[in-house]
Amino acid sequence: MTRLVALENVSVRYGAICALDCVNLLIKSGEVLAIIGESGSGKSTLALALAGLLPKDASLSGQMDWQGEPPRAGRDIGFVFQDPAASLDPLMHIGAQLVEVIRSHAKLSRSEAERRAIALIERVRIPEPEKAFRRYPHQFSGGQKQRIAIAIAIAANPHLLIADEPTSALDTIVQKQIMELLAGLVREKAMTLIFITHDIALAGSIADHMAVFRHGRLIEAGRAAQILTTPQNDYTRALIAAVPRLERSDG
Ligand SMILES: Nc1ncnc2c1ncn2[C@@H]1O[C@H](COP(=O)(O)OP(=O)(O)O)[C@@H](O)[C@H]1O
Ligand SMILES: [Mg+2]
Repeated sequence: MTRLVALENVSVRYGAICALDCVNLLIKSGEVLAIIGESGSGKSTLALALAGLLPKDASLSGQMDWQGEPPRAGRDIGFVFQDPAASLDPLMHIGAQLVEVIRSHAKLSRSEAERRAIALIERVRIPEPEKAFRRYPHQFSGGQKQRIAIAIAIAANPHLLIADEPTSALDTIVQKQIMELLAGLVREKAMTLIFITHDIALAGSIADHMAVFRHGRLIEAGRAAQILTTPQNDYTRALIAAVPRLERSDG
């Protein structure tokens, strides 16, 4: 696998708060990398730093060495957030929102873009895609809204998808379906996925590699299977020990 980006001594401060502290991390093109840590550990800050979307009051230091041009948020990087409302406009049909994204990144006629939007709606498994095209976000369930947010995130064919706690607001069955959808899309489109979660078991269901963060520091990184079976750090061990047995045994 080729390298997508190498972080060298990356730190991010918000005034007196050090949100990321001297992070060294390699992200490979085409891999699924899980970023794990409890709330406040710096996961979202890392995602924003990678996408060049840090707020103005944040100060970034260190190096981010991209292979070639850094990707641009929107075109090269798709984002999925915990709350699909962050990516859906409540006042627009979901089809129109998809068409807008598709047409802002590819020279397509309206009808071609509409066809592509319907295909995306179908791909994320929303029933009756043609009818769904003309519905508003509030007409869908929470899980369906998250599927639509995923469709929007991949509509411009980004090579990097960042999913920041995309299933934390959903119940377990829906969570499992969303994980399957993400895993399928990553395989099919050969995308790199950065999957952010506080749940190490959930991360284990999708990740090739894992990076565990605590208080802005990277405390352990490596192959997912290896970290889950032989964690080197006490905090990682504690995260694994906290996973309910039932969840662990069904893999
Ligand atoms: N815009 C901001 N301004 C000030 N502090 C922030 C801002 N965003 C995040 N922080 C702080 O930075 C730290 C890391 O936050 P964050 O990256 O959101 O963590 P996570 O996503 O792991 O919950 C926390 O202490 C948080 O309060
Ligand atoms: Mg966060």
